[in-house]
Amino acid sequence: MAEAPFGLLAELTHRCPLQCGYCSNPVELVRREAELPTEDWLRVFDEARALGVLQIHLSGGEPLLRNDLPALVTHASSLGCYVNLVTSGVGLSRDRLQDLASRGVDHVQLSLQDATRAGNDRIAGIKAFDRKVEAAGFIRDLGLPLTVNTVLHRQNLDNVAGIIAAAEEMGADRLELANTQYYGWALRNRAALLPTSTQLAAAAPVVTAAQERLRGRMEIVYVIADYHEAHPKPCMYGWGARQLTVAPNGDVLPCPAATVISTLEIENVRDSSLHDIWHSSPSFGAFRGFEWMKDPCRSCSRKEVDFGGCRCQAFQLTGDAAATDPVCSLSPDRSTVDLILSAPAATTITMRKMS
Ligand code: SF4
Ligand code: FES
Repeated sequence: MAEAPFGLLAELTHRCPLQCGYCSNPVELVRREAELPTEDWLRVFDEARALGVLQIHLSGGEPLLRNDLPALVTHASSLGCYVNLVTSGVGLSRDRLQDLASRGVDHVQLSLQDATRAGNDRIAGIKAFDRKVEAAGFIRDLGLPLTVNTVLHRQNLDNVAGIIAAAEEMGADRLELANTQYYGWALRNRAALLPTSTQLAAAAPVVTAAQERLRGRMEIVYVIADYHEAHPKPCMYGWGARQLTVAPNGDVLPCPAATVISTLEIENVRDSSLHDIWHSSPSFGAFRGFEWMKDPCRSCSRKEVDFGGCRCQAFQLTGDAAATDPVCSLSPDRSTVDLILSAPAATTITMRKMS
């Protein structure tokens, strides 16, 4: 029997006022009519808690666009779960946040697209910077812990010092600097988003120095740009190991990007319980443990460190979800990644939108 999951990523909606081209939501976004109704989400939270989940991340898209968000927060909190609101900050008034906090939001993760108003709003596709700064003020005034999350890519990586300064100014307790992961819209825009090695090399010492300088005041987490590395990221700390995702339409995913694996049979909370899906479904069982691995992973000493990398990336780049992640220098497909890295950069980004 698999160990209990620690966290539930509840993607309440794919609707979002922002249009970031680095978004990892699928290119085929779930439409409003297909979203789970309130009663199904309440049941999902009950089932998640019964399964052992302790943290519920209310995410999207933009979760503030769900009118039932207050009821969902109340319920998640009443189950004893730590409730994390993942938001762009657009639509977060002081009153609204006060209400959500009184209902049990424990933590807010606020996105920031770039260091300046102009850069942020260009990447977000709307005027959002001032509203984020304002939202950060409300969060701080209420005494809620604040994580600022910035997705890094070719268009903003040179501004990493400014991004760190902006997060400090916002009063963040934690800053996540996450190099783009190429799924969904980000994969579509990869040629415009992939940073250069020069950019990454310049950013690294800036981040390290800030981590030192801000130790004890603002934690800075730096998520590597894995195409440029010799070994892949330990994606999800192993498939079906710690967390599950429920998409806006009720699909239950071992990782947020798993719909890209077209060979995977995905289950839905409308048809099965989270317990059965977590413990007995073919999708969650597909890449658990080490039995599914082929060489070179099967006989590699790092397999317990990186779990063979990312299944979604392996599928996207090789067509085989059980292949060694091609980012790995030991993968027979590493040349695919090298070719992508050496291809000319694109200059335009397709903004995220519902089709
Ligand atoms: Fe990781 Fe597999 Fe590469 Fe070994 S061969 S380092 S387990 S991805
Ligand atoms: Fe799906 Fe890595 S994103 S396994």
